[in-house]
Amino acid sequence: MRAIHISSLDGPEAVEVVDVPEPSEDSLVTIAVKAAGVAFPELLQTRGLYQMKPDLPFVPGAEVAGVVERAPEGSGFSPGDRVAALTLLGGFAEKAQAQPDLTFALPDDVPFEEAASFTFNYATVYFALLERGGLAEGETVLVHGAAGGIGTAAIQMAKAFGAGRVIGVVSTEAKGEIARSAGADEVVLAEGFLDAVGKSSVDVVVDPVGGGRFTDSLRALKEHGRLLVIGFTAGEIPTVKVNRLLLNNIAVVGVGWGAFAMSRPGHVQKEWEAMLPHLRSGALRPVVGSTHQLEDAATALTSLEGRTVTGKVVLVP
Ligand SMILES: NC(=O)c1ccc[n+]([C@@H]2O[C@H](COP(=O)([O-])OP(=O)(O)OC[C@H]3O[C@@H](n4cnc5c(N)ncnc54)[C@H](OP(=O)(O)O)[C@@H]3O)[C@@H](O)[C@H]2O)c1
Repeated sequence: MRAIHISSLDGPEAVEVVDVPEPSEDSLVTIAVKAAGVAFPELLQTRGLYQMKPDLPFVPGAEVAGVVERAPEGSGFSPGDRVAALTLLGGFAEKAQAQPDLTFALPDDVPFEEAASFTFNYATVYFALLERGGLAEGETVLVHGAAGGIGTAAIQMAKAFGAGRVIGVVSTEAKGEIARSAGADEVVLAEGFLDAVGKSSVDVVVDPVGGGRFTDSLRALKEHGRLLVIGFTAGEIPTVKVNRLLLNNIAVVGVGWGAFAMSRPGHVQKEWEAMLPHLRSGALRPVVGSTHQLEDAATALTSLEGRTVTGKVVLVP
């Protein structure tokens, strides 16, 4: 089968399309991949900078959607089922395998490209907003990087799970349109966002960006507000003067979904079950920003480095 190999740690341009044997572990669900989600960790893996460092060469790809070809007895899956799955590795290929408890039956009307953009980002945001952030009915949520993968997921998830008002923060007007179409009630530009939203005005900040805007995010929180730390796409890891937390009765909350969820069998299934009614209703509709052929994996990975990507980047084998 065709697959992408990371065979050296020379960055995304060095990935190559290779012909490799199909995966054949009997205890796993075998999936004919129709779409694979591309994420920041895979870009890091091309340089050996991600915590998971498989021996070279290896097939990257943590998340896919496709059709079941083979499934272990008792797994609940049969050939022909449409599924989304967390493969962790091996997803950038024509066939991939996933553990049964990390494989999820798809509603019929969810396209494969959207399905391959769902689990990683939406389960992270579920963990952030509901499990770590304690989102309550009617609260105001401010989302940084609101046209990105996590950002668009956070807008839709906040609305679906009861937020009263969702404000998206973006760097350009064009990205503002993406955030609005994902469901943001208001959009403000990153430059000067605190003046636009006002001090002590939001209950929850979703922050996949970090960097210089962190202190203004704390200033934007009302009493009992929570800032959810998800990532650092701006590059800089912010520091907190903890007197701010004490003076305003606010909290900075770490969100590390991957290692937490993977070490607790059944955890992602519970998150999927909670989100499924909203996926069925169309309230959750992953934003697919660009789709690339497997041969263009280098371009797909490189695109994550610029600040141009919107929604999720997807590979189609
Ligand atoms: N903690 C967890 O469990 C977890 C799980 C999943 C992902 N993550 C992390 O969350 C982060 C966001 O992931 P994502 O998929 O949403 O990424 P993304 O789609 O690339 O979006 C990130 C946003 O960051 C903003 N940004 C600000 N400064 C930037 C810069 N210098 N370069 C690039 N982007 C910049 C951009 O928005 P503007 O241009 O509008 O500012 C961009 O839309 C990543 O670091 C990822 O590793 C963490």
